[in-house]
Amino acid sequence: MEQQGKTINIKGPHLYDHQKDLIRLFDEHPSDSIITVKARRQVGKSTVNQILALRQCINYKNQIVIIVQPTWKQCLRMFKEITTLVKGLPVLENANKGDLSIEFTNGSQICFYSGATKDTVRGPHVTSKGFLLIDEAVYIPDKLIHDILPTVDANHANVVLISTPKFKNGTFYDFYKNGIDGVNGFYSLDWSKYDTSMFLTQEKLEMYRKSLPGPVFAAEYLGEFISSTSDLFGDLSLITNDKYDQEAKIKSMGIDWSNGTKNDYTAITAFNAKKQQCYLEYFNTMRPAEQISHIINVLRETRPETLVVEKNGAGDVYTDLLKTEIRKNGISVRLVEFVTTNDSKRRIYEKFIVSANKGELTLFGDNMEQIQLVGITAKSTKSGKLTYENDNPATHDDIPDSLAMAWSEMNSNPNYVFGGRTK
Ligand SMILES: Nc1ncnc2c1ncn2[C@@H]1O[C@H](COP(=O)(O)OP(=O)(O)O)[C@@H](O)[C@H]1O
Ligand SMILES: [Mg+2]
Repeated sequence: MEQQGKTINIKGPHLYDHQKDLIRLFDEHPSDSIITVKARRQVGKSTVNQILALRQCINYKNQIVIIVQPTWKQCLRMFKEITTLVKGLPVLENANKGDLSIEFTNGSQICFYSGATKDTVRGPHVTSKGFLLIDEAVYIPDKLIHDILPTVDANHANVVLISTPKFKNGTFYDFYKNGIDGVNGFYSLDWSKYDTSMFLTQEKLEMYRKSLPGPVFAAEYLGEFISSTSDLFGDLSLITNDKYDQEAKIKSMGIDWSNGTKNDYTAITAFNAKKQQCYLEYFNTMRPAEQISHIINVLRETRPETLVVEKNGAGDVYTDLLKTEIRKNGISVRLVEFVTTNDSKRRIYEKFIVSANKGELTLFGDNMEQIQLVGITAKSTKSGKLTYENDNPATHDDIPDSLAMAWSEMNSNPNYVFGGRTK
């Protein structure tokens, strides 16, 4: 790399074609461009951007590059990787771990932002030869992306958004699609079209295919966007709302117990009196006793009117344990034990599906929740009746089951209270 006539050798790897093409695209469109790269996991996304950032900072004086990562930890990792690349070279002026900034002897600098930041972004302006990097963009809230985008405007700098894909909505998807559709100023690269097998063997890929929920595998290991439209629930983005009225009473909470296997969760969800989903938690690492005491705490804090718990299989034991603890702790809640059969499942699912399609309720935009909901299909049983379950053996239904259970008791009259007082 040239800096004021000298050649500086950065100790980076030789880039592969997919990585070189990003740099080529950047050079072909050096200003006012939004470049979006969709790629699967671990194919050198961050690496090529580190090299691009260094190249712009070292080759040009007084440049500012801003890097946004989903978390502070990821910022720190990239900060360390960049400083390692230039260690011992006569270009590094100062690398400050405290505020995560890297200064070069020619006046250029790299600044980091974490997507988890609650502060408004009032950073410096990106300079004309610098750029704004939004790494793993689907994990960064859209609001933050839109808050930080104007930092490139004054100097007509480029933006690079690079990410494993997720759902077919949100800023990353929109920008990627703009590039594919040829919208002025937008350019997109699809790294799924390149051979990146040097990063992952076919055997390992097959291992992931078998062990991950279908849509998760498609997004993370094939680099494909996931549809958020379900045949049954319709377009989930229409009823997605992470915000809910925090003051509204929690009407109904559902618990679907884990069967103890790796991908199966205990899922807890709830709706409030405004028919908004207001709770979601899923876990598969807690022992039975831990789960029960955790749920007791959840009940104490959230005070749902009704609690619907799955009671069959493993649920039988859990539900009995839970009932004992509810009694012991004097928690007053109307407890409904839900016995899963094809008929009972069909009844609660149909009610839930109809309400979702009518837009009568709102759901969280949580990825696992959406992936599980999108996967639910109607199947015909031997007797010709319909049942609802996930299509893909690696995807589970615990969150949808829990939602359907909670929703099934939304309109019931809370006349019987288990454990504590009887109304
Ligand atoms: N061109 C390359 N040659 C050799 N190794 C590379 C190259 N690009 C990336 N890597 C290595 O591959 C791994 C994944 O790279 P990274 O940039 O973190 O991927 P991503 O950001 O896509 O998850 C890292 O260990 C990185 O050092
Ligand atoms: Mg990365």
